[in-house]
Amino acid sequence: MRADLPTPLDARERPTARRATAVAHPNIALIKYWGKRDEHLVLPRVDSLSMTLDVFPTTTSVRLAPEAGQDVVTLDGRAADGEALRRVVDFLDLVRARAGTTHRAVVDSENTVPTGAGLASSASGFAALAVAAAAAYGLGLDATALSRLARRGSGSASRSVFGGFALWHAGPPEPATAEEADLGSYAEPVPTGDLDPALVVAVVDAGPKPVSSRTAMRRTVDTSPLYEPWASSSKADLAEMRTALLAGDIEAVGQIAERNALGMHATMLAARPAVRYLAPATLTVLDSVLELRRDGVPAYATMDAGPNVKVLCRRADAARVAEAVQAAVPAGSVHIAGPGPGARLSGEGGR
Ligand code: PMV
Repeated sequence: MRADLPTPLDARERPTARRATAVAHPNIALIKYWGKRDEHLVLPRVDSLSMTLDVFPTTTSVRLAPEAGQDVVTLDGRAADGEALRRVVDFLDLVRARAGTTHRAVVDSENTVPTGAGLASSASGFAALAVAAAAAYGLGLDATALSRLARRGSGSASRSVFGGFALWHAGPPEPATAEEADLGSYAEPVPTGDLDPALVVAVVDAGPKPVSSRTAMRRTVDTSPLYEPWASSSKADLAEMRTALLAGDIEAVGQIAERNALGMHATMLAARPAVRYLAPATLTVLDSVLELRRDGVPAYATMDAGPNVKVLCRRADAARVAEAVQAAVPAGSVHIAGPGPGARLSGEGGR
């Protein structure tokens, strides 16, 4: 897969489309985002880098409803309420403020990824919502601006605006103004050499996570003695990762991704009280990955805010890796993903 693959949105959306539908895919970070320095603007403490997948898309439509007194949000066929509804309404408020309108909207979103299981449903969800809402409200944003906007819904969503590999810049550490801070934090595509990667996704538990990533990040930053060491080593990991990607060196990419993820989980385990997303089945999959490596198959694991494991390997080895992982966790479901497209209005080509 190559750098020039999915370039974002030529989609400068039609002004005031009033209704738009967008599709976005989840992404999995190889260098993790963990910890915010500004919760309101969703500014991360560290740069992160991910691969957008070609599985588990979210499709979201937004229709302006000038007659309505409030937003109506349906997620996977059910009326949203509580925190899920609040996050969507807050996001739409941001879009409305930019569009200079108070018109409410009807939002309908369908996920194909298990929601809340650390499989980045918020990334595909808010990337799709950003693209659809920006088009419906006629904001006319380019891909970089859409990435900044998606970030406000969920940090990792900034990366799902782009296909292939994407780097999300934390932005300037000491911005003079909120505007400068906002402008500095966005994702962009990352150049890679000849790499034909796959991520084998092992869903060992599709239930919702016990602690939200938002809460877990805050607690980790506030209380974990391991947070700062991980954040500073993550800078070096990112630099090495960029070199490894350019070189098309899947072993190096995998090693760096695995150590970065294990380090992130170490920061959480050292938080007070500890946040532990890893389950016994997670460790069983990690053992199977070690076994694959002992057998000479380059395979490396990464985990997010949940017990599920994503195993990076060569596309040519993906079937073998999937088989080994499935044998390790027979009750789990295993999926093979490749690099996927960026978020787009439906009916348009990928970016
Ligand atoms: O975007 P959020 O708030 O769901 O945070 C996700 C953070 C991780 O998935 C754990 C890591 C990452 O970079 O995606």
